[in-house]
Amino acid sequence: MKISIVLGTRPEIIKMSPIIRECERLNVDYFILHTGQHYSYNMDRVFFSQLELPNAKHNLDVGSGSHGEQTGRMLVGIEKVLRNEEPDVILVEGDTNTVLAGALAAVKLGILVGHVEAGLRSYDRTMPEEINRILTDHSSDYLFAPTEKSRQILVNEGIAKEKIFVTGNTIVDAVFQNLEISKSRRNVLRDLGLDSGEYLLATIHRQENVDNHKRFCNIIDGLERVQKELDLELIYPIHPRAMKHLKILGVEPSGVRLIEPLDYLGFLQLESNSKLVLTDSGGVQEETCILGVPCVTLRDNTERPETLEVKSNVLAGTNPHRIVKKVKLMLSHNNDWTNPFGDGKAGCRIVEILSGDRRS
Ligand code: UD1
Ligand code: UDP
Repeated sequence: MKISIVLGTRPEIIKMSPIIRECERLNVDYFILHTGQHYSYNMDRVFFSQLELPNAKHNLDVGSGSHGEQTGRMLVGIEKVLRNEEPDVILVEGDTNTVLAGALAAVKLGILVGHVEAGLRSYDRTMPEEINRILTDHSSDYLFAPTEKSRQILVNEGIAKEKIFVTGNTIVDAVFQNLEISKSRRNVLRDLGLDSGEYLLATIHRQENVDNHKRFCNIIDGLERVQKELDLELIYPIHPRAMKHLKILGVEPSGVRLIEPLDYLGFLQLESNSKLVLTDSGGVQEETCILGVPCVTLRDNTERPETLEVKSNVLAGTNPHRIVKKVKLMLSHNNDWTNPFGDGKAGCRIVEILSGDRRS
């Protein structure tokens, strides 16, 4: 069996890392195909070096562009590599343009597709990620659903039960594998002059939030109000997309400390010691739930309803007053929920399922 691991953005590198480690451990025949969707050092290379991942065998260097342009360039490049390499199966993770391009290129060549993190739905088709998820799930031969809930969503959409495997989410593996290492190798709190439990953390980058300037201004207003009312430091490692729009707006948030995006060990440390996180990131909603840190999501919906059910997370939308209200609500709760995303062995399960299937 030969596996092609297709990835291209920060969260894919992090969430694929447990699968890559497992392939290395078992000496599986595999290679990494990087689309180059993310390319800045702190959105890409830093994760390969810090997580000690092997270099991508192929990097398409597609970079940024409109959705069609970016996805189209990936499709052409991925097809070429797959024709030459002839893998039995490709693996994609999540909901980015890289994921859709990988799945589409493979399915049209008759190569099996495995979708890691299958069955997530926000039911908001204005999100590019929702379209990518649906199309990828329906092109896949192996659907690795993180939870029973995501499995049920796939079954309800008519996907054959035999194709679906509940494995847990590989983000749990990544957190378990790296949290201890982060404590010994990184001291972000000291570098930033912060005390554990005495600051707030924010990450906001989604297209529907930052490209929409009314929503982004409301979010900034909400962050400023939260910071003022709670009188705690608020740190925001800012994604390049959000930085670009902040510059266009010419806004300098007051009381919000903007820093460069962090490496994974540094971010894990900052996240696990924070009092509360405000975010629109998918991965961060999961990680806070795993780490026992309360989360307020600055969106109107989530494809991670498990976090709402266990009450690690609450939706606040983008109204500044509502953001403050939801932060206070989350701080009044106990942080004693159980992580619904699995036991940290998702990567092993996925590689085992692929290795045990005679088709691949
Ligand atoms: C993409 C994903 C999103 C995911 C996010 C993870 C899609 C449709 N979106 O969004 O689902 O949550 O990655 O972080 O696939 N840029 C840089 N350096 C980089 C990468 C991007 O400066 O390394 C800037 C460019 O100005 C670019 C912008 O960020 O135009 C957006 O990048 P893009 O890859 O299109 O989407 P993301 O917002 O990163
Ligand atoms: N992350 C990081 N450094 C940062 C911000 C986030 O390493 O400065 C990690 C975070 O721990 C999580 C992942 O990036 O694992 C989430 O990626 P992102 O928010 O970009 O994308 P999403 O999950 O929303 O697709």
